Amino acid sequence: MLELQNIHWSLPGGEEIVRGVDLRIEPGRLTVITGPNGGGKTSLAKLIAGLENPTEGRILMDGEDITGLDITERARRGIAYAFQQPVRFKGLTVRNLLDLAAGQQLEEHQACALLGKVGLCAKEYLDRPVDASLSGGESKRIEIATVLARTNARVLVFDEPEAGIDLWSFNSLIEAFQELKRERSGALLVISHQERILEIADRIAVVAEGRVRVSGPGVQILPTLLHEEKSALCPLGMDRKEV
Ligand SMILES: Nc1ncnc2c1ncn2[C@@H]1O[C@H](COP(=O)(O)OP(=O)(O)O)[C@@H](O)[C@H]1O
Ligand SMILES: [Mg+2]
Repeated sequence: MLELQNIHWSLPGGEEIVRGVDLRIEPGRLTVITGPNGGGKTSLAKLIAGLENPTEGRILMDGEDITGLDITERARRGIAYAFQQPVRFKGLTVRNLLDLAAGQQLEEHQACALLGKVGLCAKEYLDRPVDASLSGGESKRIEIATVLARTNARVLVFDEPEAGIDLWSFNSLIEAFQELKRERSGALLVISHQERILEIADRIAVVAEGRVRVSGPGVQILPTLLHEEKSALCPLGMDRKEV
């Protein structure tokens, strides 16, 4: 279990972005964080992954205080993070990247299966370099595949996995999350505005203005979000783009 206790995070200039977040992310469950743009969701993901350090509060993993650990040490403890913005690596092929994520040389069929899960035709991609020749959507999907490759991960964090993904692969993405829920004992944390991802959430937390505005079982929270979303004010600023 990953536990955020009273997490605050300020910019170097002093502006407070995350303003006292308490959150429990439980193993075997899919937790979805949603809320308006600029609310602090990506900042929370970075704080969990160790890309940023809180100015106040503690992060515990199975009771161990990991607040002071850097990104490498957290990755070693099983925190896997897929960025909102795709990352490109010079000189690495897609196959290299998957091997690195898995921590072993994958058999071709294993690498192909991972790419298949994110809707990429594997044979065309395995030997492609991970560079600017990949579109944003392609590198995003490859990044999701690298998180899926980390079979020993205990906390998997996906920041807006739907971004740049077309309908066909969106369906396979939903399937991949459902499979992760069934087959992995780790905790799944997905930041998303997508109704179909919210629908499969065990727990939903709405983050706005750096705080958890409401959280609870998905079946309780989702109807209130959909209701709010239909109102003229659209307070969550949720994106109803069809995918
Ligand atoms: N490194 C940074 N420098 C300046 N502003 C930042 C930085 N990181 C986040 N912010 C600001 O903090 C707020 C929350 O950002 P973010 O966590 O990305 O929100 P969300 O993912 O919910 O859209 C935004 O106003 C954003 O501009
Ligand atoms: Mg974000």
